[in-house]
Amino acid sequence: MALPTTSTAAAAGRRHCHRLLALPMLLLVPSCLVLLAEASRIPTTLDGPFPPATRAFDRALRRGSDDVPLTDPRLAPRAQPPAPEQIALAASADADSLWVSWVTGRAQVGSNLTPLDPAAVHSEVWYGECSATAAGNAAYSYPYVATGSSEVYSQLYPYTGLLNYTSGAIHHVRLRGLRPATRYYYRCGDSSLPGGLSDERSFTTLPAAGAGSYPRRIAVVGDLGLTGNSTATVDHLAQNDPSLVLMVGDMTYANQYLSTGGKGVPCFSCSFPNAPIRESYQPRWDGWGRFMEPITSKIPLMVIEGNHEIEPQGHGGEVTFASYLARFAVPSKESGSNTKFYYSFNAGGIHFIMLGAYVDYNHTGAQYSWLEKDLQRVDRRVTPWVVAAWHPPWYNSYSSHYQEFECMRQEMEDLLYRHRVDIVFSGHMTLGNAPHQVITILKLVGFAI
Ligand SMILES: [Fe+2]
Repeated sequence: MALPTTSTAAAAGRRHCHRLLALPMLLLVPSCLVLLAEASRIPTTLDGPFPPATRAFDRALRRGSDDVPLTDPRLAPRAQPPAPEQIALAASADADSLWVSWVTGRAQVGSNLTPLDPAAVHSEVWYGECSATAAGNAAYSYPYVATGSSEVYSQLYPYTGLLNYTSGAIHHVRLRGLRPATRYYYRCGDSSLPGGLSDERSFTTLPAAGAGSYPRRIAVVGDLGLTGNSTATVDHLAQNDPSLVLMVGDMTYANQYLSTGGKGVPCFSCSFPNAPIRESYQPRWDGWGRFMEPITSKIPLMVIEGNHEIEPQGHGGEVTFASYLARFAVPSKESGSNTKFYYSFNAGGIHFIMLGAYVDYNHTGAQYSWLEKDLQRVDRRVTPWVVAAWHPPWYNSYSSHYQEFECMRQEMEDLLYRHRVDIVFSGHMTLGNAPHQVITILKLVGFAI
């Protein structure tokens, strides 16, 4: 979507904003936010409430699509160990810091597995404002190096017929002292190992927090999956070259690959009649990481957990979210939450709040207390817009998931109203019966009191 630049654009923006209360679409670019950067008088929540409007659903979108097989070149490893793969960026709480994540080593699937030693490969990011390829592509050509840590997770199903999984080493490094709105070049990996560093990549930091300073484009995607439809979505996303990607949960659908995936078993309970728990096929996560790498290695991806990330493991399913927690870096400590299930960050003049719908959201709980403090800290002179996102919508007129999170709404909505949160994004609503449908409703709700 191109940015209008005239006062006509501002008027169009006002009209568009009024229409955003229930907007079914694949959505790239919340138009209000984009237009905000260039309009002098956009309605605020104080001008509302605005009448809701709904765009007619395109029934052609009801068609599902098959899973992309792991043999597809886009899902296959593009680097051999010890070289990094599945490289991904995430914003920190502010533009002067950024996370770089990647995977080394090979995941294993089977019955008797030996997890990798995560400390066997170092976690380094070499970076600077100038490309080092002209200097022989050597790590020491960059003026800065940051180090971090790595971890390995396992997804265990100690039941006959179900296979266990243990991941490659997942590395997370936080870069600090970056200049906002500046292009950086980097290589990640372990410089002490032959072939241990990635090729050079680059990213542009977000603009510093401040009124009148906004990311050029923001993509918001939910319920993505790893299907033919997903590839169309990601292609569309890449063509629009956003500065930031918000991923509002349900990322890979690895948890239902063996029961509904086009290339998995057609019937999980038929294939595993005695399985006491539904297996999540974790290699789909690795395929998804490779599939997304062309985007995520240059654009920050901000995730929040959805129901498909729960992935309960064996022993009664008491271990959950193992993949989500291990694979993604988010600014949890930087934003004072100390859990990856909810956090916040600034992107120019927008304060983003990512909430967890699958952890405690009661008004007596830790998340509510953190949210209250986070909202109190917002300075509207610095971040005039406050945007919140979580996976399942509080308002839903569709039969599926109807009022599923009414309790969360009752606990938290008043707090968001009181602090005049401007826009909410959610996913979860995959219209129709087709699994792996990636085009979803993302609600943009202008809170108004
Ligand atoms: Fe969902």
